[in-house]
Amino acid sequence: MVNHKTKLRKVVIIGTGLVGTSYAYALLNQGVVNELVLIDINKDRADGEVRDLNHGMAFGNPMSIKTGDYEECHNADLVVITAGIPQKPGETRLDLVSKNAKVFEGIIRKIMDVDFQGIFLVASNPVDILTHLTREISGLPKERVIGSGTILDTARFRYLLGEHFRIDTRNIHGYIIGEHGDSELPVWSHVQIGGIPLSQYAGIDDFYKHKDMQQIFENVRDAAYHIIERKGATYYGIGLGLVRLTKAILNNENAILTISAHLDGQYGLHDVYIGVPALLNENGVREVLELDLTEMELSQLHKSAAILQEMIDTGMK
Ligand code: LAC
Repeated sequence: MVNHKTKLRKVVIIGTGLVGTSYAYALLNQGVVNELVLIDINKDRADGEVRDLNHGMAFGNPMSIKTGDYEECHNADLVVITAGIPQKPGETRLDLVSKNAKVFEGIIRKIMDVDFQGIFLVASNPVDILTHLTREISGLPKERVIGSGTILDTARFRYLLGEHFRIDTRNIHGYIIGEHGDSELPVWSHVQIGGIPLSQYAGIDDFYKHKDMQQIFENVRDAAYHIIERKGATYYGIGLGLVRLTKAILNNENAILTISAHLDGQYGLHDVYIGVPALLNENGVREVLELDLTEMELSQLHKSAAILQEMIDTGMK
């Protein structure tokens, strides 16, 4: 059913930390939305960010940028949640679950109190679990609650493969799926270089034993740790990834992106949010794509889902 609500191209960002403001700055640069509202528990911080962004308007794209409170969510097309405690050096994303689950409880209830009927996009970590929680608390249809999932991991994967083979990253096709975290996995069986299967292009028959390919995957999986050790946090990559998702939704693109989507039997998994390729448009998730995974890939995906399920069953209490 196509969403006939007239689209205001209005986005509300909850959380004006480094991720939220990098996303806001990228939206201003790329001229994606008409109306942007920044909400933060620290109202002065939100106000300062809005002032700073507005002063760059002449160099960006005309749009309305303002602070506000949760009422602003009522007629928003998209509410993007970046609020929460970020990872510290050496901390895993899953270590954040109980702290951020409490933060989310309050946020989601306030948004649903103003009868929000748009799409939730969750970016806070652990993103798969917090997306699951957002859907549980909001009660919105599963296709209208999504997480950033492994879009950044997939981008890192394609970038590093492009660097290795000295090929434009836009001609590298491949996915990272699973938890946005330590148990994510590369779908080697579906990586293509300009439409040629990677195994054929590079003459590789066992990616799990190939040193360079394994190193590339480890650099993808551990990328955030390496960046956090050096600069304290990651925010430009995810901020740009959130803009990509915003465009797919507001422009009704039907784009295939590895977001954290709800599985209802796909890949033999039920009632779990996890990073998978999904078709995204103005109504949220149109469908989850079910890749023909190898036995190894499917078993790794199930292991990843089991870790998330365990966290949901125990970690959020
Ligand atoms: C990262 C954060 C978004 O992977 O989890 O950089």
